This record gives sequence, structure tokens and C-alpha cells, in this order.
Amino acid sequence: MKITPARRIRGRVQVPGDKSISHRAAIIAALANGTSRITNLSPSEDCAATLSCLRKLGVSIQSEGSSVIAQGAGESGLRASNEPLYCGNSGSTMRMLAGVVAGQEFSSTLTGDDSLSSRPMQRIIEPLQLMGASIGSQNGKPPLTVKGSKPLNPIRYELPVASAQVKSCVLLAGLNANGRTEVIEREETRDHTERMLKWFGVPLEASVAGSISIDGPRSFAARDVHVPGDISSAAFLIAAAALLPESKLDVENVGLNPTRTMFVSMLRSLGVMIEVTDERDECNEPVGRIRVQGNLSDQPPTPVDSTLVRGNLIARLIDELPLLAVVGTQMPGGIEIRDAAELRRKESDRISTTVTNLRAMGAEAEEFEDGLRVQGRTQLRGAMLDSYGDHRIAMAFAVAALTAEDDSEIAGAEAVGVSFPEFFTLLESLVER
Ligand code: S3P
Repeated sequence: MKITPARRIRGRVQVPGDKSISHRAAIIAALANGTSRITNLSPSEDCAATLSCLRKLGVSIQSEGSSVIAQGAGESGLRASNEPLYCGNSGSTMRMLAGVVAGQEFSSTLTGDDSLSSRPMQRIIEPLQLMGASIGSQNGKPPLTVKGSKPLNPIRYELPVASAQVKSCVLLAGLNANGRTEVIEREETRDHTERMLKWFGVPLEASVAGSISIDGPRSFAARDVHVPGDISSAAFLIAAAALLPESKLDVENVGLNPTRTMFVSMLRSLGVMIEVTDERDECNEPVGRIRVQGNLSDQPPTPVDSTLVRGNLIARLIDELPLLAVVGTQMPGGIEIRDAAELRRKESDRISTTVTNLRAMGAEAEEFEDGLRVQGRTQLRGAMLDSYGDHRIAMAFAVAALTAEDDSEIAGAEAVGVSFPEFFTLLESLVER
């Protein structure tokens, strides 16, 4: 994909439905008693993988444009699939479905593409084994064979990694446990599973100390869901508007869950003009409009030389960190990201793939085991870039390429389909040259 630099971006958009919320809406609707209609479901390949796995487990799901109608299987209606559950590129699909099938009276095999097959699954194997499921893997990596047990044992489990996928896996397994399952997270991660379960009428208890409890076994009724726009997809467009002078962009009906908006807060603290309006709640998730005006480099320098992002900020920015590194190239003091070794376990090794692409564009970037540092105020050059099969790397560097001196080429740009198939079309519709 060739990217020609842009002067600015202008317009009003809606981004497709949130991927994280869509996975949860589909999975929880599939377990409910009755029929749920989910509107504005994410058109991502990842969510298509979740739907396809749920269908293989016997759930009837009809697609109608960006809506689906799911006939929930109820507490004992899932059936064994005679083929592996193929999760594609999607860690969320594999980790959350593992929690669902762990509490069934049958065995399931979960597989994925090459990238997913190299990602760590021990983090869900451990709690699910403690709950009584038998799980086979390739040294803690997929494929997973899950021999379910019904009911599961309830556990009290402190997450060893800050991961919403692991938290969700254990909570979903808790629906089929006999008693109270408690998950404790030291760092706050996205809470869409908790919100969606509550929307479907499942009571959860949360404490300020980061503990979430669910009482099983639990059955619940179907309910319609409307999915808000994906803030992590919007982030790429927002960043482009922030970086290109005289840009003006409105993103309508976008999710504003506080566990997901740290990127927007950071841009604001860096001096970007961002206004949030029309705030409301929809299906237990905050939603609203984000208006952003460029540009970052014309702002007065921030008082600190280099912005350091670390500690509990990391989990709240996890999907936006490659993009933040791109933004860092234009900040007065650059940016340093630490405590982010988890980035190496994403769809690509995002520390290495970000640094490689930044260097190709002429940025001064240093790589650490747990992060990276990039120098600010850099005029990026057009370059031959690579997505490394990673949707967020493709989109972060499409934004970088818009700010460059000359054209860039992104190999493997089709990876954007994993979360945001319309990304390039939408971006092009906003760009002015
Ligand atoms: C997700 C959680 C995060 C995030 C991923 C989606 C989710 O992963 O990176 O894109 O939907 O729960 P981890 O839970 O592995 O940090």
C-alpha cells in the first residue's frame, strides 16, 4: 500500500463497532437463554473468528449487515465441535472461548494462525486447570485441547499479568463454576466483560482493591446490544488529526470507557485540542463524540524534556503504544515507553516492529527489553515499511507516513482487516493534500 503525505485531515466519521466489546457481546449472547440482536458489531476478521467458533459450538448466529441475531444456547446448550475452533489471529477469541469451553462436558481444540500459535497461553491454562479443566498445549502455546469439566471449581485468582483477556477467561469460566470465582487484578484493565455480563443481568461484585467476583453456576436471559465505535480504531485517525496542522476531525458515537481513553487523555496533556461532547451511556458503556484539532508540533513545548510512559499506564494504553511512539517523534522531547514487555507478546513483537519501522523513516529510536525511546521533533522520511502481519503496526505507520516528506510503501497493509477493514478507505476520505 502506497501512502502519500497529507496536508491535513478534515471530516466527521463513525468508526466501526468496538472489537473488544463485540467479542464479549457475541460470546455472552451465545450463552444466554433466548434471542439477542447485536447491532454495529465489529466487521473485523477477529470478531468473524469468534462468530465462526460459536457457530461450530452449535450456536445459531445470523448476520444481517453489521448486525447479528444470536439464538443463545443457554446453560447447557453448547455442543462439541467436530472440527477445531479456528481463532485466526485473535488472542481474545482463543483466551475467552477457552474459558467458555472449559466449563462444558466435552472436549474442544482451539487453533490459530502462525502469529497466534506463537503467543503465550500458559496465563489461561493455569487458572483453568486450577478450576478443574484438563488442557493440552505446545509448551504453553496453541493449539490448545481443552477437556471441559462441569461444574468447574470456583477459584480465587490473582492475575500474574495485567490482561483483560485472562480476567475475562476466568470470569466466563466462573459462570460454570460451583460457587464464587474471584479474580484480583493489581493493575486495572478494560472492564467490558464485567459491563456486558451486568447488561445481561449477571450480578458481579467489584471492590476498589481490584477484585471481581461472580457466583456460579449462572444462567441468564438474552438481551439486545448496540456496540459503540472502537476508540482504538479511532485513535489512528485522532493521531493523524493531532499531527497534521489545521486538521479538524469529529468522531461520532465512539466508546469512551475510561479503561480505554488514556491515549486521548495523553494527547490532551500534550497540548492537543480535544473536546469530548454528547456523552451518554449505551448498553452499560459510555459513548460520545471526540473532536480533535491539529497540530501537535505547534503547541508550546511541554515542561518535561521527554515524556515517560510506564507502570500502570501501560495496561491502559496497551493497544495504542506503537501509535504513541509515532506521535512521540513529533513531540518536543520525544517519548520513552517502559514496563511494556507485554508488547513483545502481541500480534507481532511490537517493540521490535515499531523500532524497525521508526528507524526506516529516519527516526532515532532505541530498543529496550521492556520498551523503547524515540527522539522528538523529527521530520520523518518516506520509507519501505512492513506491517509484519500486525494490523496496529500497519495503521500506526500509515499515520506516520502521512506526516513524512515523501511517499511510503507499507508491505502487508491488508493486515488492517484484523480490526479495521475500512481503515484505508476511511482515512483517504478524510485526507487533504
Ligand atoms: C483485549 C485485551 C488486550 C488487548 C487486546 C484486546 C481484550 O490484550 O491488547 O487487543 O479485548 O480483552 P491482553 O488482555 O492480552 O492485554
